[in-house]
Amino acid sequence: MRARRKKNLDKRANLASKVIVLSKTSEVLGLPEDERYDVYYPEKLFDNDNPVELEIGCGKGRFITEKAENNKSINYIGVEIQLNVLISGAEKIVEKGLKNAKLFNVGAEILKYTLPEKSISKLYLNFSCPYPKKQYENHRLTYKSFLEIYKYLLKDGAEIEFKTDNDDFFEYSVNSLLENGFEITYLTRDLHAGDTTGNVLTEYEEKFVKLKKNINKLTARIKK
Ligand SMILES: C[S@@+](CC[C@H](N)C(=O)[O-])C[C@H]1O[C@@H](n2cnc3c(N)ncnc32)[C@H](O)[C@@H]1O
Repeated sequence: MRARRKKNLDKRANLASKVIVLSKTSEVLGLPEDERYDVYYPEKLFDNDNPVELEIGCGKGRFITEKAENNKSINYIGVEIQLNVLISGAEKIVEKGLKNAKLFNVGAEILKYTLPEKSISKLYLNFSCPYPKKQYENHRLTYKSFLEIYKYLLKDGAEIEFKTDNDDFFEYSVNSLLENGFEITYLTRDLHAGDTTGNVLTEYEEKFVKLKKNINKLTARIKK
């Protein structure tokens, strides 16, 4: 049963391989430093120099594919560590024939080695895993070491958009951003209580909205 599942996953991964452009950390780190950017340089990936927006932890890719469909002059990169969920995103991109969306099947830890400095116009963190602070704080995507990577990647004035259902993780993230050189430009603890025009739902968001859970959202940028 397991072998069949793996075979099916391999087949789907093969189909999606044009969209999942980066699938092994060792592929990146095995390259000489000056060649890394040549391979994953957004202008090469998309064959244009349109702005690039990044979603880290994109899951099954509903958010990023809807964004890409509605904003053809923006390029989107989705990063997701789990191939079995990322494949659904890749299939959506192939189905919709989107040329402005690509996926990296890697952990966010290595993004500094794959994308050039100041290359990202917007960064989305949607319903990032709220790893327990005590044991796994350094896995949280708003932990200081990740914020340093974002500082490297973001263009001047570019924003991070962060949504989560987890109230404690939200407070943690507000503090982490403020303590590590970011300023908060927008904040709500109940996104869906207000006007949600323009809000693109993610898979997790839909689930929590149905459960009537409040959704926290903030935007932040590097403090000048
Ligand atoms: C709770 S899910 C949310 C998925 C989607 N963004 C949504 O809102 O429906 C969080 C995702 O982040 C991924 N993730 C966690 N840590 C990551 C990391 N360091 N790099 C890339 N992806 C990561 C997980 O594998 C998981 O699929």
